[in-house]
Formats: sequence, C-alpha cells, structure tokens
Amino acid sequence: MAGTAGLAALPVRATGPQTLTARVAKAQIAPPKYAPTEVWTYDGTLPGPLLRVAQGGRVTRRLVNELPVPTSIHWHGFRIDNAMDGVAGLTQEAVPPGGAFDYDFAVPDAGTYWYHAHTNSFVQVARGLSGALIVEEAEAPEVDRDEVLVLDDWLLNPEDAQFMQPFGHPMSLSHGGRLGNLLGTNGTFDFAREVRANERLRLRLINASNARIFVLRLAGLDGWTVALDGMPLPAPEPVEAELILAPAQRIDLIVDVTAEDGETAALVRFDDDDQWRPQARFPVAGKASATQRDGPAALPPNPNMAVPGIDSARRLDMAIQGGAMGRMSGAMMNGRSMGFREMAGQGQFWALSGQVGITDTPFASLERGETVRMKLTNDTAFAHAMHLHGMHFRQVADDGTLGPMRDTILSYPDEPLEIAFVADNPGKWLFHCHMLGHAASGMTAWINVS
Ligand code: C2O
Ligand code: CU
Repeated sequence: MAGTAGLAALPVRATGPQTLTARVAKAQIAPPKYAPTEVWTYDGTLPGPLLRVAQGGRVTRRLVNELPVPTSIHWHGFRIDNAMDGVAGLTQEAVPPGGAFDYDFAVPDAGTYWYHAHTNSFVQVARGLSGALIVEEAEAPEVDRDEVLVLDDWLLNPEDAQFMQPFGHPMSLSHGGRLGNLLGTNGTFDFAREVRANERLRLRLINASNARIFVLRLAGLDGWTVALDGMPLPAPEPVEAELILAPAQRIDLIVDVTAEDGETAALVRFDDDDQWRPQARFPVAGKASATQRDGPAALPPNPNMAVPGIDSARRLDMAIQGGAMGRMSGAMMNGRSMGFREMAGQGQFWALSGQVGITDTPFASLERGETVRMKLTNDTAFAHAMHLHGMHFRQVADDGTLGPMRDTILSYPDEPLEIAFVADNPGKWLFHCHMLGHAASGMTAWINVS
C-alpha cells in the first residue's frame, strides 16, 4: 500500500475513486477459545486499512456506508479543509445507510495520524471504526522496519465475546469512560512481530481506544521519541520514563532491538491489576548487525510549526466541569439552565465552561491568523484527553516556554494548563474530550475561525 509522490500526483484514476466501505464484519480479537466478535469496520478489517500517502499529496477516498446507521469519517490530527473534517452535524451531514461521501484533502504535514467515525463516535469507534493514516516524509529516517501499532481495548461480554451493551452506560459516561476488558494491538489481543537483534524500528503508536490512558514501557528495546501526534520533536528524546498515551494521541518512536537472538522484546503496558504485560511482542530471531548504531537524527520539521506572538495573544478560559464526584451543580443545556440531576436524567454529565454539548453559538469566534492562549481548568475528578480539530497547539509552561506541538493533551484534575495555537485554519472546529463517552455526554464545544 506504500504511496509514492508519483502515484499521489496522478491527476486521474482510471479505476474510479478509491473507496472505504463501512460495514459489519467478524473479527477474532479475543483468544481462539472465544467466538469471533461482530465488529464495524472499514473494508472488513480491524483496524481499517492502513493508508499511506506522500507529504504534500492528497487523500482521496469515497466513504461508502453499508452500515445500518448513518456515519462519517474524521481525519484526526490533520490541518484539513473544514468541509472534509467529517463532524456530523457541524461540517457535514452524516452519510445515510446506502449513501456515500467523497473525502478529498491535501496533507501538508508528515507523520502518524488516524481516521475514525465521527457520528455517534462513542458507539462507532468502540465497535471498530478506525484506522491509521501515515503521511510519509520525503526524506524518511533510516530504519529497517516501520510498524504501525494501533492500540485499543474492547469491552466484551465474556459469555459470547460480543460487545457489552449499552455503549453509553451512565456509570462509565459519568466516570472514566468505557474501559475495555480485553486489550490488544492491530485488532488482536496477542500481537507479535518477529525482529532481529540490533534491528532499528520505527514504531508508530496510536491510541484508538475510547477512554484508556495507556502507560507503556520498552523491554529489550532502546528507544527515542521522535514525534508526538504526528508532529516531529526538534530532537529525539531518549525514552527513560514511562510513555503516557491518552486516547487519540500518537507517539513515534525509533527503537533498537537490544534483546538477544531467542529472547523477546516488547512494548509493555501497566494493567488495571498493577501488572506489566506485553502490548506488542517482538520475538528476536537472528541478528541485523553485530553492533548497535548511533542515536537517530531528528525528523524533518513540518511546515508552520511556530506559534508566534504569545505575549499579545488573545486569552480564553475553558473550565472542564461535571462528572461523578465533581463540583458542578448544573449548566446550560439546550439554551436553558439545568441542575446536575436533571442533566444526568437526560444522559448528560459534563460541561465545558457551563455549556453542555454543541451550542448554536461557538465557544469562541476567532479571526484567521490570530494567536490564542487557552487556559484549561479541570474541575472534575477525572483526567480528560482534550482534542482540538483542524489546528495543532503547544502547551505554554509557567515561564512562557512552549512545549511540543500536539492535537490532544491530557488534562489532570486540579492541574490547570495552558495551550496556545495560531487560528490559521478557517471553519468550525470542535474542541472536545477524546474519552468519547465524555464527549457524547456534554464535553464538546466548538470554535469558529473566520
Ligand atoms: Cu479524533 Cu473529534 O476526534
Ligand atoms: Cu473526558
């Protein structure tokens, strides 16, 4: 599937548009003693097909909807044309069963991205509607192997290995979100890929789960973080501590296999029962070279990664509110003020700055090109993975220095943080929690850039 600049530049396709068909399928995600699980897929695979395109090229795909419900695709992390953003009810109408929609957009940035359903996402993504989209650098780093690892968890009924219903149980909506009881990578609980000693791999980690914050370590691997949420770091950072991968976040690693022939290297995760377990196994067979190499070079930067004018930026304050054990007494919902109990009765538990869910008027109206600083205050008892569509941001430290460029940031209770971005992409952009049950039960807002 590797795209090349030449292919991407072809003006006409003799075969008609390439499609992504959303449809029901079966997948063996659980151990073999269990039945296959009925999943919702793109093109019948879980995760969806791995798409690769050259930086500066275009992604052109016709979504064909063979599901029994309306759907749409969001291309997560892309600085994309607003009309292609895939948010049902905001940037497009959901595609009805039997319908189709043509997505066609330029990809200015290289890196690790993903696509997922953005209609009723807390159900549709949980059922399997997501896949990886890799944008290749013109000058890719030198590695022996490039592996995309889509990390997920699934909440299955242990009786029949089918998805536990309902997807939006009030208990999970109002707490940490829908957490799975079976964790895995690339659609299986037991992902393994054979490697050689001293081999150098690029690992592209994507968290496609609804709500799980993965805590990861390397075993038998020496690694460097080279990009976050698709965006290259100015210099590779050695992996010394645990890696935290919140829902929707990506980490690009370059790792060298230090385990010996016959051993097994692994990406390991910290499990709910306080045990470290393999999230992806790399059995070592043979040797790629006699010695280890020097550390990797930085990835080439993407265009427009600066966030200038921090001192004179427009300031916004966003409060993250609600949930179980929260302090919120009520909020505005559908244009009227409601107590928390009344909200909860309608399946809504969260608010952003006093507003529950999408409102008629945006949280902020920005002028194209202006720099914005947004302070996030988490008044809840839970962590939230806050995601901005259409533009990337940097965290502003207390001393004013800027952190790495990202599209999703983890906000912890009572730890205010500030992000800054240039509002350089016109359109209607969502800002929401990527714990998808939280987004569906109130934690969604939008901003307008004119
Ligand atoms: Cu990946 Cu609005 O989300
Ligand atoms: Cu949340």
